[in-house]
Amino acid sequence: MRNPKAFFRPLALGAPAPVQEIPFRPSRMIHFFDPSNERMAAKVPELVGKVDVLLGNLEDAIQADRKQAARAGLVQIAKNTDFAQTQLWTRINSLDSPWILDDLTTLVPEIGHKLDVVMVPKVEGVEDIHYIDRLLAQLEAKAGLDRPILVHAILETAAGVANVDEIAAASPRMQGISLGPADLAASRRMKTTRVGGGHPDYLVRTDPVDGEIQGTRPTFQQDLWHYTIARMVDACAAAGILPYWGPFGDIADVVACEDQFRNAFLLGCVGAWSLHPAQIAIARKVFSPSAEDVRWARRVIDAMGDGTGAVMIDGKMQDDATVKQCKVVVDLAEALAE
Ligand code: GLV
Ligand code: MG
Repeated sequence: MRNPKAFFRPLALGAPAPVQEIPFRPSRMIHFFDPSNERMAAKVPELVGKVDVLLGNLEDAIQADRKQAARAGLVQIAKNTDFAQTQLWTRINSLDSPWILDDLTTLVPEIGHKLDVVMVPKVEGVEDIHYIDRLLAQLEAKAGLDRPILVHAILETAAGVANVDEIAAASPRMQGISLGPADLAASRRMKTTRVGGGHPDYLVRTDPVDGEIQGTRPTFQQDLWHYTIARMVDACAAAGILPYWGPFGDIADVVACEDQFRNAFLLGCVGAWSLHPAQIAIARKVFSPSAEDVRWARRVIDAMGDGTGAVMIDGKMQDDATVKQCKVVVDLAEALAE
């Protein structure tokens, strides 16, 4: 489990440049709220301690004429709330929008000391992260903050996917990357009109057998996101940062949401976004290793002694590599239990 090492980039005029170890903090569900919506904002304090991350959304889903209200609402909520162990993140507007500069120049001086992570949408390459990194460094130094604000990129453009290795390693501030299936589908000119999940027409048909009538062979729906999740996970693992599934838009379909989250978990992701209270419990369940998996992993580790060689357990071969896999499960369970 990585402890991101983050620092203030030294500024010319003698701003402090402390090196800090940022401890691992759970982020199984990044729970989105609209800070311009008074009803939703009033519920934020009730969610402290019930979610790992509370994220005040300033970008898509907030109407253009509500951007300022959302920014101001987030400042008020942050000032009035004790977040205890729950992290406070924000999703700022994208670099090609007219709002991002006001987002950062408002939020960092006002509530920078409470802000753990800034999520940056539609990141296309390292230059986007370098811009945010420099701007944050200047604003943090000016505000006299004594800990760095970390950066999380959303992978949601074709260019971003092409450059994901460089993006993941672009700055010591990089905390993680989320896959944004809705914008990514549009950027790639896919033919879906939904947020995550599959498509009933993306199928593989079984091979014909002799005498079979065309069209009666079974078909299997395929996963639209497998390649991109795996691509993102590799980039994040190589850079030592954390990968996440993003949103799942069909709130009523809790079964498909759980499937989507579980696929991401099994491929290496540590969390997902929750857009509705119903998705909080799903994320908590999916992204916490089950007691049964942890028991099995401990059994393998114990049986393997110094972790080298091979043993048979219940008819299955275990060796140095399976011990490493089991340690991933146990380390995550222990980190979440702390
Ligand atoms: C999230 O922002 C997405 O576009 O899916
Ligand atoms: Mg998006």
